[in-house]
Amino acid sequence: MRILVTGNLGYLGVEMTPLLVGLGHDVVGLDTGYFDGCDFLAPPDPLPTLRIDVRDVTPADLVGFDAVVHLAALSNDPLSDIDPSLTYDINLAASVRLARAAKTAGVGRFVFSSSCSLYGAGSDLELDEGAPFNPVTPYGESKVRVEQELSRLADDDFTPVYLRNATAYGLSRRLRADVVVNNLLGHAVTTGKVLLQSDGTPWRPLVHVLDIAHAFAQVLTAPRQVVHDQAFNVGRVGENYQVIDIAQLVADIVPDCAVGHSVGATPDIRDYRVDFSKIERELPGYRPQWTLRRGIEQLWAAYSDGGMTAEQFEGPQFFRLRTIRQHLDRGRLDSDLRWVST
Ligand SMILES: NC(=O)c1ccc[n+]([C@@H]2O[C@H](COP(=O)([O-])OP(=O)(O)OC[C@H]3O[C@@H](n4cnc5c(N)ncnc54)[C@H](O)[C@@H]3O)[C@@H](O)[C@H]2O)c1
Repeated sequence: MRILVTGNLGYLGVEMTPLLVGLGHDVVGLDTGYFDGCDFLAPPDPLPTLRIDVRDVTPADLVGFDAVVHLAALSNDPLSDIDPSLTYDINLAASVRLARAAKTAGVGRFVFSSSCSLYGAGSDLELDEGAPFNPVTPYGESKVRVEQELSRLADDDFTPVYLRNATAYGLSRRLRADVVVNNLLGHAVTTGKVLLQSDGTPWRPLVHVLDIAHAFAQVLTAPRQVVHDQAFNVGRVGENYQVIDIAQLVADIVPDCAVGHSVGATPDIRDYRVDFSKIERELPGYRPQWTLRRGIEQLWAAYSDGGMTAEQFEGPQFFRLRTIRQHLDRGRLDSDLRWVST
């Protein structure tokens, strides 16, 4: 299969693309490179990559591909603090335009990287794919609206699929320290403390980077009738955790480490549990390999091998918002997050 992966140079993309190549697919990337050089332990594998802003893609760029995997986005809630309208431009408008361009170009399958954050503040129940949307940020809202717009494009020749990933964790060569597990563990390793930013009671669904990659691989080749215009929560049955339990697990694994609360810790409105039974039932080839404990052990070993220091961990390299702000401060990106030509 010839596959275009947008956002191939981000946290998920650098680990997903080698997996797809290893399965025999012909893979091309598309990424503007906001995180170039932000490598952890090693650079990403070389991959032919179109250096195009996803807002500028035309059907001509997409001719000849069998599928598009669409990861490129301002990829979390804090990034929408820069300017929520950018989240709508890049995550919503550009995603819908990209899908229309793919359909025009004759691409048959469009796999959208959605998020469980569209459930927002949930109920006490585990939310399945039929649960109401309740996004609490522009980021979550953008994911809802893209799914709705893509669904309107579904027809006999165009199959959109919506993979609602849980919050990712785990080792990647484009490590992120702004996701809850990686963050708590990084503080534990570099300061000996696991600091909770909230009261620790909210629930989070969690999934390892490589299990997300496997889910995308399965959806790309699954029979059309199984995935056509379908949403799947991506995670593993049972892998919902309260933040306090993540902290405790980190403290169990990292020696001489204590759990504490940040000054001014407040309740977090993002609080939900997710039911992952549909993907495990309907995509039998999807067999998640990771548990949170195993993922923390793997990342702890990587932080230790890499000699992670507090200064490195807190710097711009691993925090999306800090990297983007540094580009803005240094005049490399303009206020629309477009590269300033030199
Ligand atoms: N990481 C998670 O926990 C998580 C959870 C749920 C959903 N997702 C979704 O999965 C996708 C990938 O997430 P990630 O964690 O790898 O994000 P990331 O921020 O690490 O990577 C995103 C990549 O997209 C590129 N990009 C951003 N804007 C672009 C633009 N205008 N043009 C071209 N390239 C652009 C960036 O340069 C970057 O390499 C996103 O859509 C995200 O919303 C991620």
